[in-house]
Order: sequence, then C-alpha cells, then structure tokens
Amino acid sequence: MDLRQRPRRLRRDGIRASVSETTLSASDFIAPVFLDATTDERVPIESMPGHERVPVAEAVDRVREVLETGVESVIIFGVPKSKDSTGSRAWADDGVIQRAVRDITRETDAFVITDVCMCEYTDHGHCGILEETAHESPTLTVANDATLDRLAQIAVSHADAGAQMVTLSSMTDGMVGAIRTSLDEHGYEDIPIMSTAAKYESAFYGPFREATEGDPAFSDRRHYQMNPANTREAMREVALDVEQGADVLMVKPALAYLDVIQAVRKEFDHPVAAYNVSGEYAMLCAADEKGWLDLDAVARESVLSIKRAGADLILTYFAEALAESLPKE
Ligand code: PBG
Ligand code: ZN
Repeated sequence: MDLRQRPRRLRRDGIRASVSETTLSASDFIAPVFLDATTDERVPIESMPGHERVPVAEAVDRVREVLETGVESVIIFGVPKSKDSTGSRAWADDGVIQRAVRDITRETDAFVITDVCMCEYTDHGHCGILEETAHESPTLTVANDATLDRLAQIAVSHADAGAQMVTLSSMTDGMVGAIRTSLDEHGYEDIPIMSTAAKYESAFYGPFREATEGDPAFSDRRHYQMNPANTREAMREVALDVEQGADVLMVKPALAYLDVIQAVRKEFDHPVAAYNVSGEYAMLCAADEKGWLDLDAVARESVLSIKRAGADLILTYFAEALAESLPKE
C-alpha cells in the first residue's frame, strides 16, 4: 500500500512517550481527607473503599500517609461534633477543621486547603442560612445574602487556624467577593481562593454525603447548584468569580463535565481545577469489585482525561494510589 501518512509510526515504544501530549504528575493532585470529631477511631466510608473518617487526633498521621505517596496538597472536610440550624461549628475556634489545620500545619509541610461551606455543619444539611419560609417553599431554601457573612466568618476562621488556600463550594451569589474582602480585612491578602465556580447539582455527590452526613434534610440543592444541562451558564458563573477575585476556577464534578472543564480552560486564563467527585470514584471501585474493570487502569485513564480536558489541579480520591504508581520526579 502506498500510504504516506501512517499515524501508527509514532505509537511504538521508544517514541510513544515522547509524543505524549498529557502527563500526570503527583503535583497535579489534591487529596481529600475526612476528619471526624465524633469518633476516636478511624471509620471506613462504605461507599468509598479505601477512604476513612479519621479522628482529629490522627489528622497529622493521615496527612503524613498522603505526603508519603508524593502528593503535597490536601483538602480537608470535617464532620463536626454537633450540628445546629446556623452551622455554628463551622467557624468555631475549636471546630474539627480549625483544630486539624493547626495540627497539620504545625507538624507537616502539606499544603492545606479547606472547604468553606455549611452543609456538613447545619442540621438541615443546606449550604447556608435558611429562609424563614424554607420549609414551605422547596424552590427557595437558602437565604443568599445572609449566608455571605457566615461564609466570610468561616473563611477567616480557617485562615486563623493556618489554612493556606480556601475553596468555596456553596454556590452563593457574591461569595468570592465577600470572602476576598473579609480575608483582606483580616490581613490574609496572600491566601488564594479556589472557587467552585461551576458546581452542578449532581447525583454523583452521594458517597460524599454519606461520608459527611451532609444530605439535605428536606428539599434539594437545585436552586443554588447549577443545572447539569448548562454550559453557557457556567461561563457566566466563572466570569463573575473572576471579577470578584477568584484565583483558581473549579469545575465539579469532573468526568461527566469534561466539556465544561475544556470550555473554562479555553475562555479564561486562570488555573483550572476539577473535582473528580465521590460518585465518580465509587462507580469505578464497584465495577472493580465485581471484576468488570481494572481499577488502576480506569482510574489512571479517567484522571488523565480530566487533565487532557484542561484541568491543572485535580481533586481526586485516587490521588494517593495514582501518585504511588507514577515515576518519581
Ligand atoms: C459541600 C461539598 C460537597 C462535595 C464537596 N463539597 C457535597 C455537596 O455539595 O453536596 C462533593 C464532593 C464529592 O462528592 O466528592 N458543599
Ligand atoms: Zn455545602
């Protein structure tokens, strides 16, 4: 055959790696860590095999395990000792996150990121302060503007404890601006904000909500998280967060939203993060348990795809396992 173009030529061992367009490295990953103020022992998270809720006293040990794999950043989520209608344990100086951040930053070199949201801390499970009429009106539960002050207070309490970056995930309108202002007023001009600019109302958060007992007690999150049908709206959301001073732009979930990751990458200049969420992790683990898929291979391919789509930072429950199997720099 007279074929001038034979793409297979570059797929052979020896040249294949040289023409690879995407490379994963441990520095791409952020490992989620769950801390639990209600337990003295590690509690496995059933729908997230390999992950546990760890008592605050073991926070440092848990983070050291992550660091040993080569992953240097962690995002920590907390289960508070109690929940109430205002989520007051979210900004308590002796709260689960505040205590853990103090310990981790004192004892390790990990880069510590916290999540500024209220759903794990409120007894109603919503990401903010409720409207008075919330129970009657399932389409309007969270009071947007009243929530902003609380979020700002939470962010400052995380920074006071030593958090090195904050993520905002409540999808409250104006959250980036409010938190930027508040951090700056408290002398935290150098703490970057990673905004979950495009967070979809997704069924893939199921295992995370089991892990943090953060399921809404009534109604759902449709009126504040984004409709999975929309990408143009994601561009508007991201543009607003950029205007308000976001440093890193996050898309969440990741695998079902690769087009959104790619669109944000193309349209904006900021670093893009993607959250490969709990349900995306759980489904691969479940298929592996059944012997239907090879977990290492599908995990690597999934995370590689997220990077190829345009993510610079990847929050993933596969972080440790993947980092361990990467060639060390
Ligand atoms: C809290 C929060 C959620 C996730 C991260 N932060 C749950 C939610 O919004 O319902 C999901 C992460 C995951 O599923 O891994 N706002
Ligand atoms: Zn929330």
